[in-house]
Amino acid sequence: MWLMRCFLGILIATQVSSSAAASPRKVELQKNLERNKARTGGKAQPIAWKPASKFADNAITGPKEPKYFHEPGVAAAGHYDQRFFSGFVNDRERHESLRHLIRSWLQWSQMQGVETWLAHGTLLGWWWNSRILPWDTDLDVQISEATLKYLAENFNMTKWSYDFDEENFHGTYLLDINPYWTNRRRGHSSNLIDGRWVDRNTGLFIDITGLSETHRAQRPGVISCKNNHRYNVKEIYPLRDVLFEGFKAYVPYAYDIVLVKEYRSKAFTLTEYEKHQWQPALKSWVQKNSTQPYTQFTLKNGKTIKIKREDPRGLEAVPQPSFMENISRLVHYW
Ligand SMILES: *[C@@H]1O[C@H](CO)[C@@H](O)[C@H](O)[C@H]1NC(C)=O
Ligand SMILES: *[C@@H]1O[C@H](CO)[C@@H](O)[C@H](O)[C@H]1NC(C)=O
Ligand SMILES: *[C@@H]1O[C@H](CO)[C@@H](O)[C@H](O)[C@H]1NC(C)=O
Repeated sequence: MWLMRCFLGILIATQVSSSAAASPRKVELQKNLERNKARTGGKAQPIAWKPASKFADNAITGPKEPKYFHEPGVAAAGHYDQRFFSGFVNDRERHESLRHLIRSWLQWSQMQGVETWLAHGTLLGWWWNSRILPWDTDLDVQISEATLKYLAENFNMTKWSYDFDEENFHGTYLLDINPYWTNRRRGHSSNLIDGRWVDRNTGLFIDITGLSETHRAQRPGVISCKNNHRYNVKEIYPLRDVLFEGFKAYVPYAYDIVLVKEYRSKAFTLTEYEKHQWQPALKSWVQKNSTQPYTQFTLKNGKTIKIKREDPRGLEAVPQPSFMENISRLVHYW
């Protein structure tokens, strides 16, 4: 697998260098426009990365903005929208709600020709197995500033009805855009999130954040969200199309650089996290069962591994990845 990645990396690198004469930003923009055109059959597709609008340079002065999005005033309810909170959901319900949140968002955004890509923990979940990390409590997507403007002006308060027949699931969703989106700097940090896609049934949501070129003179081509996550335009574009939770989705071009910057290389090598264990045989994160009895085995090389007695064959406690395994996970990044 990683050999193939290396090979792809070389292929891509060759293609990039052949067009390096033109301004890289112009090339990215053009590629993006062409891709959008191909995706929508050439229909109106206004959404592509553009240099920041006049809003980007708005300095935050004056009185503190009121916070726009509200969470219920209950401890540990930070991941629910106040308007739709009617109590905590259990782990299974949360996971189901999140899965359909992202699917409905991907479906809606693609129907509208709105460009969006996976970010933060959601992107990391895609890296492991194209699924939401089982311990995640919310989801993150990013959009360009141009898309944010387009959503604010055309789609604020859109309600969307969604059916997923295979699971006999029906949901309704709300797109809500923060009116303070026009300030593109962190400011008093009451409005770091530009928009939400809310599950009206559970109150769980996707955070939507826009990226703007906030310091065009000092940092040209660097786009950031209001929480000061910074990206080079070339790390984001051209987006790659992938599958996420079974639906077509987009991820940043240099997703590995983006992830390592945010989570360090640990993100690719840690196989135990939040009471979950990565099971290579299942390609999935499985909840650890601390009460289950283990048998300890000593391998030829002197290492010991623990195997759960009642696990089916192949479903074993994962030994810490070896040095070579860690290297092979990281090789695409390096
Ligand atoms: C979106 O609609 C809500 C409710 O009408 C409003 O409070 C908010 O300011 C609107 N957002 C934008 C960006 O206009
Ligand atoms: C955990 O392991 C114990 C002992 O084998 C078993 O009785 C229990 O059902 C397991 N719990 C889960 C959630 O798998
Ligand atoms: C591989 O990475 C994991 C997580 O970062 C670490 O715990 C482990 O010790 C590493 N293995 C080796 C042999 O360095």
